[in-house]
Amino acid sequence: MMSVLLSDGVRRLRLSASRGRVDEEGLAELWLGWNNPQWCATIEMLNMVAAFATRQSARTMLECGSGVSTIVMGIIAEARGSRVVALEADRAWHGLMVNTLKRLRIRSVEMRYAPLVHGESSDWYDASALDDIERVDLFICDGPTGDTRGGRSGASSHVLRMLAPRAVIVIDDVHRAPEQDLANRFGQVGETSMSRWGRPDRQFAVIERIGAERPRRAPSLPARQVSPAYV
Ligand SMILES: C[S@@+](CC[C@H](N)C(=O)[O-])C[C@H]1O[C@@H](n2cnc3c(N)ncnc32)[C@H](O)[C@@H]1O
Repeated sequence: MMSVLLSDGVRRLRLSASRGRVDEEGLAELWLGWNNPQWCATIEMLNMVAAFATRQSARTMLECGSGVSTIVMGIIAEARGSRVVALEADRAWHGLMVNTLKRLRIRSVEMRYAPLVHGESSDWYDASALDDIERVDLFICDGPTGDTRGGRSGASSHVLRMLAPRAVIVIDDVHRAPEQDLANRFGQVGETSMSRWGRPDRQFAVIERIGAERPRRAPSLPARQVSPAYV
């Protein structure tokens, strides 16, 4: 059963996306209706992701670790004619996401099942799932789960080379050392700017390759969260 909050949030976000905007109240409804607060992106991060997904330059969006963020990007991609590729390592969660996207009639998302593969220093998604992707404009790094060997470090070997010159990268959970190291690695390639957002125990990083256009207006911060801490 889909919650009323979720379907109303989807409806509102869809309507605003068709007008090139993001209905932040609709987004909050969608987040509440998804009801997975321990695992999903914060509302603050979702607002930021939605603003970046709305940019003209965001043609191909790649996400590692699917959930409500995939739905949000999918709704915006549907309105804009862009594309979302989401890698998911958990078969059951992959099935749930495929069914949810189908029920919501979101066709712009390619949910790809990519089980974790044992690498030299880390486990990461089966990278063959990315073979056909040439260029990524927006990369959301929110998986694999925090208990994965090597954390999310595999992203630097497999995704960095695909990033467009003006790509934006959003990495969740940079309050943890491995994710912050990963953000630093993304920030060290080419000219970039990096900012950290959220409260001290739950932070995400935004890395913008220099030259990327800014969102038309800065996403507003939820009242209970602290101002961004720039690094
Ligand atoms: C941090 S979550 C990704 C969250 C997603 N980006 C969002 O905003 O909803 C990373 C992975 O955790 C797993 N996951 C998500 N929700 C879960 C839950 N409620 N219980 C167990 N695993 C979950 C999925 O495999 C997902 O790819």
